[in-house]
Amino acid sequence: MAAQSNPGVLSRTRSDLGSDLLRDPYPTRPTKSDRIAPEGFAMPNSNLTSLSAPASDRFAGLATGDRTAVAVVPEHVNLRDVSIPRTRVPAQSPRAFVAELAAQSLQHRAVNHPYLNAVGLGELPDMRWALADFGQQYHGYSKDFPCYLTAVISRLSDPRHRAGLMENLTEESGIYETEELSELGEVGIEPEWIVGQPHPQLFKRFCKAMGLKDQDLDSELDQIVIWREMFMNLLSSGTPAEAVGALGLGTENIVSTIYKPFSRAVATIPELSARDTVFFPLHTAVDDHHQETLQAISADLARDEASRHQLRRGMLKALSLRSVFWDWMYRRALDPQKADQVL
Ligand SMILES: [Fe+2]
Repeated sequence: MAAQSNPGVLSRTRSDLGSDLLRDPYPTRPTKSDRIAPEGFAMPNSNLTSLSAPASDRFAGLATGDRTAVAVVPEHVNLRDVSIPRTRVPAQSPRAFVAELAAQSLQHRAVNHPYLNAVGLGELPDMRWALADFGQQYHGYSKDFPCYLTAVISRLSDPRHRAGLMENLTEESGIYETEELSELGEVGIEPEWIVGQPHPQLFKRFCKAMGLKDQDLDSELDQIVIWREMFMNLLSSGTPAEAVGALGLGTENIVSTIYKPFSRAVATIPELSARDTVFFPLHTAVDDHHQETLQAISADLARDEASRHQLRRGMLKALSLRSVFWDWMYRRALDPQKADQVL
C-alpha cells in the first residue's frame, strides 16, 4: 500500500509541517515583544467610536498601552468600497473574526437546506432515485476538487500557507499519515478502502455502486458545468482572500455537516457496503484537519478590514453557488418524472 511504502510521508505529523502556520500569530494576551493585541482588546460594537471623532474621544476607555495606531485605524482599506464600515474599529482579533465567520457559514441556507433535511430524513418521493441523481450530478463538481485546491495554492504568496494546503492536497490524493489512519480505523474505516484512492475516485465508487455507468457520469448537465466554472473562476480570478474564503469558510468548513444527511441516507440502501459509501464518513466522522488549516490561513489574511470583507464575500459566494445547486437538486428529487424540465 502507498501508506506503508512511503514511511517518510507517514512518519511526519501535521504539526511538523504546520507548526508555524497553526501557531496563533495574533496572541490575545500581551507579551513582552507583542503589545498589538493586549488582553481585553476585543470590545462590543457599542463601545466602538467613530474615527471622525476627536482623537482624544477615540482613545477613551483604552488603557495607555492599547492606544496604538493599529488598535484604531484599519490598514489597507479600499476607500472606494462603500460597504466597508471604515468608521468602525476592528474589535476582534483575526482568529475571533474567522471563528465568527465559520459559525455564520453553518447558518447559511446551503447548510440548512430543505433538500438536505429531506435526504437525511428519507422523505423524498424516491430516495433511491434521488441518491443516484445526487451521485450523477455532484460527481461533476467533486471530481475537480483537487483542481480547486491547486488553484487556491497558486494564489498564495506565503510558503507556509502553500505547504499547509499541499498537505490537504496529499490527503485528497489518498495518502494519509499513520495517526490519521488510526483515527479513521476507530470509526470503522479500513485503510485498504481509502489508501491510494483519490477522493474523487471514492465518490465515483459510490456512484458505481448506485448503478451509474461511465456514460452517465460523463454526460453533464449545464447546471453542473456552470457551478464548476463559476466556482473555479472565483478561486482563480477573485482576490487571494476571496479564494481562501470560498474554499475554506464556504466549502471545507461545511462539508462535515452537509454530508451527514447523505451518510444517513446511504445507510438505508441495503446493497451498499461500507466500502462503497466510505466517501461520506471519511468527510464527516473525523476531525477535519482541512478546515483547521484553511481557518489558520484565513486568520493570517484577516489583518485588515478589506481582507476581512473579501474573506466573507468569498465564503458567501461559494455558499450561494451551493445553495442554488441544492435548490435545483431538491426540485428534481421532488418530481423525478419532470426532473429534466427543472432549470
Ligand atoms: Fe476530500
